[in-house]
Order: sequence, then C-alpha cells, then structure tokens
Amino acid sequence: MATPRSTFSNKFGFVAAAAGSAVGLGNIWKFPFEVGKGGGSAFLIIYLIFTFVLCYPILVTEIAIGRRSQKSAAMAFKPLGHPKWTFVGIIGVICGVLILSFYNIVAGWVLGYFVEMLLGNFEIGEHFDTYVTDIAEISGYTLAFLLATAYIVSQGITKGIEKASKILMPSLLVIMLILTAYAMMLDGAGAGVAFYLIPDFSKIDLNVIYRALGQSFFSLSLGLGALITYGSYLSRKEDIVSSGIMITFADAGIAFLAGLMIFPFVFSEGIEPEGGAGLIFMTMPGIFKTMGPTLGVVIGSLFFLLLAFAALTSTISLLELPVSYMVDKHKIKRKWAVWYSAGIIFLLGIPSMVGFGYSDFFTNFITYVGRTEPVNFMDFVTDIASNTLLPFGGFLVSVFAIHIWKRRKLFRELSHGNPGFTRSWLAKYISFTLTYISPPVLGAIFIITILEVFFGVKII
Ligand code: PFF
Repeated sequence: MATPRSTFSNKFGFVAAAAGSAVGLGNIWKFPFEVGKGGGSAFLIIYLIFTFVLCYPILVTEIAIGRRSQKSAAMAFKPLGHPKWTFVGIIGVICGVLILSFYNIVAGWVLGYFVEMLLGNFEIGEHFDTYVTDIAEISGYTLAFLLATAYIVSQGITKGIEKASKILMPSLLVIMLILTAYAMMLDGAGAGVAFYLIPDFSKIDLNVIYRALGQSFFSLSLGLGALITYGSYLSRKEDIVSSGIMITFADAGIAFLAGLMIFPFVFSEGIEPEGGAGLIFMTMPGIFKTMGPTLGVVIGSLFFLLLAFAALTSTISLLELPVSYMVDKHKIKRKWAVWYSAGIIFLLGIPSMVGFGYSDFFTNFITYVGRTEPVNFMDFVTDIASNTLLPFGGFLVSVFAIHIWKRRKLFRELSHGNPGFTRSWLAKYISFTLTYISPPVLGAIFIITILEVFFGVKII
C-alpha cells in the first residue's frame, strides 16, 4: 500500500518553507554583486520588473502543477496526462544538481567566515582571494554544510524543512535591518545609495537583461521544478495565489534590503562594486571591525551564521529535487537517495571550488566567442544552469500550462483555496502573462543569448 504523501501543516508552513527556499545566498550574496556588475540601479529595475511581472505567474503555475499531480518535478507531468513533458522536470533536476554543486561551496565560505568572525579575524575581508584558495579548509566547510543539508532532507519534509524555516528567516531579517540602519549612518553612504537607487538607463544592455532575468529565476527558486515539488506537499485547502504573492514579496524584499545594506558599506570602504563573487566577503568584515572587538564579533558571527541558515533552507530544497525524483521514480529509500545525490554533488562542486585561483585551468575556464575575459567554472555553471536553463524552464512551464494542460485546468487548481479566483483581475493577469508575455519574451531572450553570449553572434 502506498504511504500517504506528507503535507505542510498549514499555509504559513508552506509559505515559510517556499520563502525559505527562495531567500538564500541568491539574495544576500549573489544579488548585490550582480547589481554591482550590472551598473547598479539599472540592474535593480530590470530585476524587479522580471520578478513581479513575469515570474510571479510562473511561480503560481509551478505550485499548481505540483499540487495537482501530487508528484515531484520530474514525475509531475505524467499524472496530468502528458508524460512526454517529463523532460522538463528532468532538466530541472539536472539544473538543481548543477546549482547545488557551486551553491554549497559558497555556503562553505560563509561557514568559514562565521568561524573567522567568532575568532575576531576581521582582516579576513582583505584576504578573501587567498582564503578561497585554501582548499583543505574550504572543502571541510563545504562538506560540513552538505552533510547538514543531507541530514535534514533525510529526515523527511515537514519535520526538517518547516521547523528550520520558521525560526530562522525572521532572525535574519532583524539583523539585516540593524545593519542597514548602521550602513545609513556611515560616511559615504549617500554614494552607495545613489549607485543603487538612482536609475541610469544607459547601463542597460543585453548582458544586464540576461543576468537580471537569470537572477529573478534563481532567487525565486523558479524554473527547475523546486516549487512543483513543494506544491505537491501543499494541501488543497490552501490558497496558492496569495501564498505566491507573499513568497515573491518576501524574496524581492530581502534582496532589495541586502542591496540597501551592502552598497553604503561598499562605498564607505572604497571597494569596487564590480568585485564579483567576493563582494560581501570583502566588505562585511571591515564593517564589523568598526563596531569594536566585542560587538563586532557578536554581530559579525551572527550575520554569517544566519546567512548560513538562509543558505541551508535553500540547499534543502535544491537537494530535494534529485532526491524526490529518485524516491518517486525509482522507489529508492529516501535515505539512500539523499546520500547518493550528496556524493555526486560534492564531486561536481570540486571544479567550482578550485576555480578561484587554486587551479588556473578552472579559474580561467572558458572564454565565450566574442568575449575577451575568460570566466571561471562557477560563472560558467551559473551561465548555463541559472541564467539560461531556468528561464528556459519558465518558458516551457508557461507553454505547457496554457497550450497543453490548458488554462481551464490550471485555473481550476488555483481556485482550490481561493474560490473567487477565476473572476478576479489576478486571474486575467496570470492568464495574459502566461499566454502573451512569458513565451515570446523568454523564448526570444533564450535564443538571443544563446547566439550572442555563447556564440558571439551580434544580434542587438
Ligand atoms: N533561491 C535560492 C537563493 O536565492 O539563494 C537558490 C535556489 C534554491 C535556486 C532552490 C533554485 C532552487 F531550486
């Protein structure tokens, strides 16, 4: 006899878990440095438009597909009567594994910085470049982090994920608010805020659009079926439409706040905003130092600890992708699926780990046609998995929902827990976007970027 599928205990549990998946390193580590690279406010504006206009309708669609099918990402299309679309879920599982392989490394850095802050080693900010080449230490932290993720996932869905998300998310918000208030009082804060908030539309180009789109998807955990899997654990009593609004606001809100916190610091310390993946690691320790030895240690270690927890609620959902696939498809025991996936993910992460100066080959891994600078392995995986495949996943989900599954069935599912939905303006908006906006926009950006970014064919 099949065991009944476990569910989230209520709507708050679901929103907390999905927002826990969404809010993570993507908001606090990745978003600020993408803004820095993308010319500041120009990136921010495009990111916000993509998030609210384009991604929100896809987000509720993913959750609805999951809840209707009661299956994880790769298995969800068959029970809906369209087994040929299983490939969408499988691409998602592959994306999840690729993303987790490098995400886990950054989470390892965060854990390492937590320890350095505890020891009062604020100088580490200036030594980020050498710190990340200490492979013995980094691999230890990375492994510790992966083991923590694997342990929670092996404990099953409601117990592990819900409990962790409910306590830790609000604590992170509080410490970020304190740091933002502190940032605003520093000399040079104004230049940082101006960089972040005053729009300079001349900075917008294809690269900014492409990266902002990838960031929106990455940050919302969208386009790879993570939310299909989460939706499959959601009860029919709950309202997907309003849960989706909360998740989107929580995610974009925390990212926005992270920018407001970091750029005054970056400018007051005279750090280059284009600094890349090291941005928060180079900036924050110097700030904690200005707080004095005791307060600096307390706030500094708390910041990196909570960031590690935010990362954990995201890695849990990433690991859940291959695990629930193996459990649902191959009927492998959950525990085995967890350890097997974790092993593969660790190995796949090694090139990213050594790609920050330790190995020249993986540091200058590839130069795309038409570009001058080589990118490292982590950037390469980001470009393939999160900047290209996630939006493509969103394209496929939109096409599937409207043309294959059909709007009527999507709306019927969205009406469970929200009886008036079909007549609401949100219904019209979701339907319009999925039909007329997301397929052409995502399809066009996909084709243009493949040609332009990877093959150097100049289109615009
Ligand atoms: N959304 C997470 C973040 O912003 O850190 C990253 C992520 C988690 C992406 C889960 C995709 C995913 F399925």
